[in-house]
Amino acid sequence: MDTAAKTNPTIITIFGGSGDLTWRKLIPALYNLYLDHWLNDQFRIICTGRSEISNDVFIQKLKDGIDKFSRRGKAKEAEWEAFAKYIEYQKADFTQVDFYNQLKKEITQFENDAKCPLNKIFYMAVPPQFFETIAERIGDAGLADDKIHSRLVIEKPFGTDLESAKKLNAALLNIFEETQLYRIDHYLGKETVQNILAFRFANALFEPIWNRNFIDHIQITVAEKIGIEDRGSYYEHSGIIRDMIQNHLLQLVCLMAMEPPVSFNPDEVRNKKVDVLHAIRKIKKEDVHDFAVRGQYGEGWLEGEKVKGYRQETSVDPDSTTPTFAAVKFFIDNWRWSGVPFYVRSGKRMQQSISVITIEFKPVPHQSFPTEAIQNWQPNRMVLNLQPDMGIRLRFQAKKPGLQMQLTPVDMLFNYHDTYASTGTPEGYETLLLDVIEGDATLFMRADQVEAAWELIMPILSTWEDNPSINFPNYAAGSYGPEGAETLIAKDGHNWVVMPFEKPVHE
Ligand code: BG6
Repeated sequence: MDTAAKTNPTIITIFGGSGDLTWRKLIPALYNLYLDHWLNDQFRIICTGRSEISNDVFIQKLKDGIDKFSRRGKAKEAEWEAFAKYIEYQKADFTQVDFYNQLKKEITQFENDAKCPLNKIFYMAVPPQFFETIAERIGDAGLADDKIHSRLVIEKPFGTDLESAKKLNAALLNIFEETQLYRIDHYLGKETVQNILAFRFANALFEPIWNRNFIDHIQITVAEKIGIEDRGSYYEHSGIIRDMIQNHLLQLVCLMAMEPPVSFNPDEVRNKKVDVLHAIRKIKKEDVHDFAVRGQYGEGWLEGEKVKGYRQETSVDPDSTTPTFAAVKFFIDNWRWSGVPFYVRSGKRMQQSISVITIEFKPVPHQSFPTEAIQNWQPNRMVLNLQPDMGIRLRFQAKKPGLQMQLTPVDMLFNYHDTYASTGTPEGYETLLLDVIEGDATLFMRADQVEAAWELIMPILSTWEDNPSINFPNYAAGSYGPEGAETLIAKDGHNWVVMPFEKPVHE
């Protein structure tokens, strides 16, 4: 990797600096960028938070975070000490105007010392109720005026429905230009998710068959073993549709379904993605039960341990009707995808943690082999494993060695870890933070994308909220979700396919 051309001088202010995201994701990502020499020597991180902690204690906590969460493992003492010099903790009430005036002074001083334009990055790692206030204060202090170098990074959730997302967009766009806004969907920073673009558009082989003539249907599963942990109060108001489907899963649908971009210009890529969202058929409220299934986990067993049901989790209403699982069937009404179902599902407390996209191809038009030969026949499938193991698998039929003609499915595998064993794979946040520093918004959500995604899922959300489920909990922790999800796909003659990566099939 040639990192000789370093990034510009940069100052990052993290609001919510003493919170979980900073500790688990942001500082480990910045530390790895530092170790890989991406950061300019003139770099500074100001973490602001409400907690009363000394700088030393704060830095020690960040180091513990590196030891625990960094992909490189434990920090080396000298390297950490050199990096820690860039970080400062400031206890602050970020609703107060004074704080921003002080920040402005510091940033101006830093910029004067840098003797060149300084990237001024403001990262909102705070609960969403603070987004507007912080943005306003930044604007009032004149910190958003540099339309090229001042950038605002916003974590999800971006709104709680279409209306609130529009309101938030309007408020932010009153202060910042769209080009200054970086709405994060961390899935877009994942290596394997970015690889979907490489796979589709850097190879001549797949694009001609990437359409309704050859593809029968596409499935996307993002299953998580974890429950809602200590996030009960957030999750009760969110649920799976807001937490996963509106953002991560719809973004995966966009990447799978978009037209080839003319270039990797940020707006060109985002235009192509938003075209997909516009083409997805809006599910009518009266049809929601035919297209979407919800679930909530009850108690169950995971890896030999008994685990609680959702309603028994901390800060969760014992009669909660919040869904922790959803499966939805989408249709994309355009020339490429007409009639091809896209099934997506996601859930907490599922049997395994796995994110996988399966493309199932149409059967051969005429089966020439005798019935005995095709007893093990399976459709051609391409499986993109996103996590935990990263790779691509193509399943096709081969003749089993022997005197008789017998067909069996076999796999061709591309395994990321084996192929790139010597190259460390950056975490999603590394990619995304570097993009913010470099001013590349391709992997970030534009206002119209966020709104189009909300618009699509609003009928599901409102139908479910108007008619709370009387069957919850309806799946056991440690299972693959409610039976209804199997029925949703089975009634079209299919079944969910999850092929863990480590076991190639040679039947
Ligand atoms: C977050 C959700 O956006 O994504 C979490 O809020 C979820 O509920 C997480 O666990 C999943 O991300 P990853 O990277 O672990 O797949």
